[in-house]
Amino acid sequence: MEHFSVGVVGTGYVGLATGACLAYVGHRVTCLDNDQERVASLREGRIPFYEPGLEELMARSAGRLRFAGSERLAEVAGEADVLFVAVGTPQGGDGSADLSNVAEVARAIGRSLGASTPREFPLVVVNKSTVPVGSAYYVSTLVGDGIDEAGGEGAEFRVASNPEFLREGSAVHDSLFPDRVVVGTDSKEALDVLRTLYTPIVEQSFPTEWDPRPKVAVPFVTTDLASAEMIKYAANAFLATKISFINEVANLCELVGADVSEVAYGVGLDDRVGSRFLSAGLGWGGSCFPKDVAALRATAREYEHETPLLDAAAAVNERQRKQVISKLQRDLHTL
Ligand SMILES: NC(=O)c1ccc[n+]([C@@H]2O[C@H](COP(=O)([O-])OP(=O)(O)OC[C@H]3O[C@@H](n4cnc5c(N)ncnc54)[C@H](O)[C@@H]3O)[C@@H](O)[C@H]2O)c1
Repeated sequence: MEHFSVGVVGTGYVGLATGACLAYVGHRVTCLDNDQERVASLREGRIPFYEPGLEELMARSAGRLRFAGSERLAEVAGEADVLFVAVGTPQGGDGSADLSNVAEVARAIGRSLGASTPREFPLVVVNKSTVPVGSAYYVSTLVGDGIDEAGGEGAEFRVASNPEFLREGSAVHDSLFPDRVVVGTDSKEALDVLRTLYTPIVEQSFPTEWDPRPKVAVPFVTTDLASAEMIKYAANAFLATKISFINEVANLCELVGADVSEVAYGVGLDDRVGSRFLSAGLGWGGSCFPKDVAALRATAREYEHETPLLDAAAAVNERQRKQVISKLQRDLHTL
């Protein structure tokens, strides 16, 4: 199998899981971060958050997995075949995704490329951060600006979108046994490189003690840039809507004397519905659903397009939280 030299910028849940898994399946990976304390602890084999199995995977890939501060980006970009961008894209004030980290990294990649010696093959810059539709073109422009800033001419790169679907708490499992790998690009060269990079995961041919493996082959979905970016948002928006749906049903159940857990069980057994994300409760939260739904609604607003279903999913979620708090207040008062 062909092994690549890979750089990953950002060592949060996504960057670290991506880097460790790609090293585990045979690639040479350097993970970069601008948080020096984080880099120092990673070099000692410690991760600064709880993620089952990740430290063990890092230890097993030690010979092929390195960590460095962002100041080493030029050196890493110079050696790399593929460079992943996996930095945070927090929610901005108007709900849209804040792309400042992504923009900073894209410009820095451009400056590194512009200042380095000509490459034999173009660098494949892969966006793994969750970014609104159109961001790949934005990244491409910024890398180009960086190259110009450094005075480099003809420094070649290709851009791809490879959204991440892992869940915090099962990042290792989700990265080694994903439901699908999605790659969006308009470059055949980038697609060929990413197909080969992911071959051990797609074919499930890497060594593992998970036997039998959860899956035999992983669908490798190839598409254009905009569709890849949209797949990530649409997936999270659907799951959030599913949770809002069952919470709305739960409130109706309470009125009519039905038991929502029995109802969800009965409904979820239908293959077309499925039982996951069908538990009534506090509503959706966490680091991704609220910001991704808000970003998708913000994108729609940019196009002056209405999203009544997503607006309702967000409103039901907001009401659910308030309702749970007022119930608690009422119950505590009566105690
Ligand atoms: N956490 C999840 O479950 C999850 C799942 C799928 C997709 N995503 C998306 O993936 C992206 C990353 O998420 P995460 O949870 O790993 O984020 P995170 O906040 O845990 O980690 C981001 C890392 O990037 C580093 N960073 C930020 N700016 C940098 C810069 N300019 N140069 C170098 N390093 C920089 C930070 O120091 C941090 O270590 C986000 O867009 C997120 O929406 C997250």
